[in-house]
Formats: sequence, C-alpha cells, structure tokens
Amino acid sequence: MDNIEILVANESHIKYVDTILDTIEIAAAKRGTGIAKRSPDYIQQKILEGKAIVAMCDDDFAGFCYIETWSNKHFVANSGLIVAPKYQGHHLATRIKNFAFNYSRKMYPEAKLFGLTSGAAVMKINTKLGYVPVTFEQLTDDQAFWNGCKSCVNYDVLERNDFKRCICTALLYDPAKHIDDKKPVEQPTKTVFTID
Ligand SMILES: CC(C)(COP(=O)(O)OP(=O)(O)OC[C@H]1O[C@@H](n2cnc3c(N)ncnc32)[C@H](O)[C@@H]1OP(=O)(O)O)[C@@H](O)C(=O)NCCC(=O)NCCS
Repeated sequence: MDNIEILVANESHIKYVDTILDTIEIAAAKRGTGIAKRSPDYIQQKILEGKAIVAMCDDDFAGFCYIETWSNKHFVANSGLIVAPKYQGHHLATRIKNFAFNYSRKMYPEAKLFGLTSGAAVMKINTKLGYVPVTFEQLTDDQAFWNGCKSCVNYDVLERNDFKRCICTALLYDPAKHIDDKKPVEQPTKTVFTID
C-alpha cells in the first residue's frame, strides 16, 4: 500500500521539474497527441508562485498539474495534468484535478475555468466537476494562451480553422452558472490517501 500526498507544490519540488516534463513528453509521444509544451523555467516559476499541484509518494513523483490565468484573470486553466504510469488507474488524476479545481475556485472565485483536451479521462473528470463542452469562441481570446498551442503537432489544424476548432474539445466551468451550488469546501493545504 502506498500513501499518496497531494499538495500545492513548493520550493522542495523544483528538483522534480525534469521528471515532470519527461513524464509529460513520453506520455504525449505514446498517445501520439499534441500538447502545449512548457519549458523547465516555466514549470519552476509555476511552482514558486504556488500555482502548481503535485502528488508525491514519499520521495517518488506521482502526479502534477499547474494553474494558468488568462484575459486578466477572467479565465483560469488547470493544465499539464500528468500521472506517472505506475500510479495510474487509482483515481489519482481525479483527486489532483479536484484539488486544483477547489484551489483555483478559492484563488479566483469569479473566473471561468476552462481546458482544452483530447483525452477521455480529462473529459470525464472535468464533466463531473461541472465543466460543459463549448465552442472555442467561448474560451479566452488571450493570444498568449493560443500561442501555447504552437508546440502542438496539430497546430496547423487550429490555424487552418481560424482558431475556431481543432482536435481538442473545449470544456468550460462558468461560476455564474453554478451560483446555487454550495460554496467550494475549505481547501485543505494537502490531502493524503492510500492506494493498493
Ligand atoms: C490521463 C491520466 C492523467 C489519467 O490518470 P489516472 O489517475 O489513471 O486517472 P483516473 O484514475 O483519475 O481516471 C479518471 C476517469 O477516467 C477514466 N480513464 C482513465 N484513463 C483513461 C483512458 N486512457 N481512456 C478513457 N478513460 C480513462 C477512468 O476510468 C476514470 O473513470 P471513472 O471515474 O468513471 O472511474 C494519465 O493516464 C496520464 O497521465 N496520461 C498521460 C498524460 C495525459 O493524457 N494527460 C491528459 C492530457 S489532456
């Protein structure tokens, strides 16, 4: 049995940046899908800003995602989700996403949360969180966000479609549509659980 801890990443996790990026790159190559590639400096900065969530099994890296803001913080994305292969299939991605969702909602309560994904697991997880599929026009028009797609193998498809559609599905959580939902639970600074 392994104890997994999910928490907001801090300085002590900077040594895992290369492992995180390698794990993301290997997974993308295996799936044959595109990703918005991020540099080690970018991920390090996210960690130092308290905008990254990490899952650890003692000293072993288990999972990760980071938080980005766009359009003057009107839009928030929880991106770069990765679970190390040996920890997959235990709902760790679900827990990381839930953690990042509550953390993002607390930091940016008025912001719309969104994601672009071609992955079935993320579609499932985000749908359970209250995201709905939308057209690309309903996402941020912040050029800096769309520039992130330049490193994706499908960027030519996006360009050809005038940035209106691509391989990915757009998912959006609009807090204005959830005003009757109960307030997000107080976000713990970390959560621990056990997998077999
Ligand atoms: C995708 C990934 C994050 C899933 O991690 P995980 O911890 O195994 O996921 P979970 O166990 O939380 O699965 C969540 C749900 O998605 C389903 N699921 C998981 N992987 C799936 C897959 N490859 N295809 C379809 N459904 C999948 C699970 O069955 C689960 O459904 P349930 O809630 O109905 O039981 C992990 O496989 C990974 O890191 N892959 C490589 C990177 C990647 O694809 N990132 C996503 C970028 S969009």
